[in-house]
Amino acid sequence: MTEALQTHYKINPASNETGYKSYEAGSFKFTRDEYFVSIVWPKGAHTMAADGFMRAMMRTVAWGFFYGTLSYDPVFGTTNHYGIVDMFAGTYHPVFKENGRDHLEKFKAEDLLELFRDLVDDWTNEGYDPFAAPGEDDAGQPWGRKNGNNADAVTRIRVTANRMVGLPGDAEIRTDANGFPQNRMFADVSSDQPLVEAEPGFEDEVAAFNLYDYLSRSDVTWNPSVCSVVKESLFCPTSEEFILPVEHGNDRCEWFVQLSDEITWEVKDKDTGNPRCRIVMRAGDVACMPADIRHQGYSPKRSMLLVWENASPRIPDMIQSGEAPVIAVQF
Ligand code: PHB
Ligand code: FE
Repeated sequence: MTEALQTHYKINPASNETGYKSYEAGSFKFTRDEYFVSIVWPKGAHTMAADGFMRAMMRTVAWGFFYGTLSYDPVFGTTNHYGIVDMFAGTYHPVFKENGRDHLEKFKAEDLLELFRDLVDDWTNEGYDPFAAPGEDDAGQPWGRKNGNNADAVTRIRVTANRMVGLPGDAEIRTDANGFPQNRMFADVSSDQPLVEAEPGFEDEVAAFNLYDYLSRSDVTWNPSVCSVVKESLFCPTSEEFILPVEHGNDRCEWFVQLSDEITWEVKDKDTGNPRCRIVMRAGDVACMPADIRHQGYSPKRSMLLVWENASPRIPDMIQSGEAPVIAVQF
């Protein structure tokens, strides 16, 4: 394990007939061909299908490494230390570890993100949208030789409200006004706005909006947006279809409120990946994911999920030291 901060980053021009650039970060090397992505490190190598890799890399970039660990599969991933990030291969895979094939390097998060942004741009072909579920009409295909780009899809940024949604000057993200059509699977969701009856004189200070309508118009999957902030408590609703592109190993407890439809969660031990349990969450179900697991969701039809995070920067250390428990409730 190399603990020093890596400073080697290199973007190589396309060197084979498939036309994709290749990338180096520390001693990790990334190449892609028509179907696969190869990751090579000093004592090992790993191959992933390009679709799963691109969906995971898109989230890594969009979320700025998120909380804790993003495992692309049982072998490869990143762990966020907020400013510094680990990139690893085999570190949380018992067989790679036992055989000395595991590898972990540390990077300045912003520098690694910059390289990954270039990779996402180059490895996304025209018409392919790594934020989409593969069954959507406009999802496109990740396969084949290098063929154009899809900058609009991979550089999406969330619309930011200037104040509570619904109030004058909110940045026009009221669901009826933002121009996003309802997803095909949410055609039955009402777009009525709540009726607000403010006392005279308070019309500019009281507002409400229909969160179901808002979520029914999300044009991305598995991409939580921060919809309310109360101190360090963040409500991050999201619309889900197909598979969460990463196994998320959080560094804190995390609550899920299933707002509609159904998601099955595979829960595994954070360090070994050994199965812990399987949870089927239906509309109205609430679960707290412990801080010592990784989880991956499967949503057979588009569903709405509220992810509730405590963003306090103190929590990872409190959990590491045992000051805070790995589960939120003891029954
Ligand atoms: C999670 O890892 O908890 C997570 C990430 C993205 C989502 C939903 C859940 O869209
Ligand atoms: Fe999570």
